[in-house]
Amino acid sequence: MIPFSPPFIDECVINEVLHSLNSGWITSGPKVKLLEEEVAKIATVERVVCVNSWTSGAILVFKWFGIKEGDEVIIPAYTYSATALAVLHCGAIPIMVDITDDFTINVKNIEKAITSKTKVIMPVDIAGWPCDYDIINALVIKDDVKQQFVAESEKQKQLGRILIISDAAHSIGAYYKGKPSGILTDLTIFSFHAVKNITTAEGGAICLNLPASFDNEQEHKLMTLYTLNGQNKDAFTKSQIGGWKYDILFAGLKVNMPDICAAVGLAQIRKYESVLLKERERVARRYDTFFSKHPQFQSPPLENSERKSCFHLYALRLNNCKEEQRDLIIEEIAKESVAVNVHFIPMPMLTVFKDLGYTMADFPISYDNYAREISLPIYPQLTDEQVDFICETVFNASIKVMNQ
Ligand SMILES: Cc1ncc(COP(=O)(O)O)c(C=O)c1O
Repeated sequence: MIPFSPPFIDECVINEVLHSLNSGWITSGPKVKLLEEEVAKIATVERVVCVNSWTSGAILVFKWFGIKEGDEVIIPAYTYSATALAVLHCGAIPIMVDITDDFTINVKNIEKAITSKTKVIMPVDIAGWPCDYDIINALVIKDDVKQQFVAESEKQKQLGRILIISDAAHSIGAYYKGKPSGILTDLTIFSFHAVKNITTAEGGAICLNLPASFDNEQEHKLMTLYTLNGQNKDAFTKSQIGGWKYDILFAGLKVNMPDICAAVGLAQIRKYESVLLKERERVARRYDTFFSKHPQFQSPPLENSERKSCFHLYALRLNNCKEEQRDLIIEEIAKESVAVNVHFIPMPMLTVFKDLGYTMADFPISYDNYAREISLPIYPQLTDEQVDFICETVFNASIKVMNQ
């Protein structure tokens, strides 16, 4: 059996968790702070706030920016549903647009979707492949787009334009024009869910890269308060002798990351660029060497002159393949005990979004990519022999189904 995406747990991870347990301090504390510093180093930003998931990080940021009922947030139709659900949880409307052939949001569609209600654009770095951020960043400072922006909250007035948040759930360690994911937009949110390149079991991190009208250090303090009910004393300060008194400054959330979780991520991130990312790249390049030899396959983008993936998913596509044939190929692969996946079922195909009136016919490129896609296992522990076995298995399954 070759699993799809088991977490990377070595001695260092176990020791770091044991250290947290033995220290007697298991909720947010020194390990979260260290993890925030390590994420900041990789992303080359000054300030990072750890949270208990990407989703809660997105809700926090929307609340911080004053997103409310009726506001619009532009996102791609092709992503995991959390991207849109975070918008819905704030009462706002996800405005879905179609993607391009590299899985990322089509910038031309963003421009057409902007209205006076648009408060945020949230592109998604699918599979670890960054979006075309220069064009998106330039779009929101165009005179006509800025004039259309209606600032309602204090933070919206301070920014004076549409906020760009990168859904970087997949893209820690990816690069765009020489800059790492994390510093490519105003705010970037990573996910540390169990299957991600770095995990804290569940978790996420918000990277702050706000323009000069903001003091990122102050916003870091404010967002940290947001993670802890808006309480002016964290658990550690409150636990000190005589430190019982506290105040609740505003209705914050309760989405802080515990130290025991941060410990897992801390041990991984210390060897992320030197070991874990390199091993992911080894697997991705080996797939590429095999599948690029066979014209029935379309390999995912991994690197070009401007962008470099962090190899989160290997999103293989089959040429001239219908959805039903793709499903049969996955069944054949499963018979060989290889676990594969599909990233993603576009949101308009899911009940919650169908019920809200979204329809798949509006997103033909998303549908086409979904119908032909199979995500192959990719993680540091995979051996070259296992990768070769997966290649042969996928190849044989595709020949069998496509020749039927
Ligand atoms: C593109 C994308 N955005 C957001 C999320 C949500 O992340 P989390 O599970 O940490 O809330 C995921 C999770 O898989 C994702 O793939």
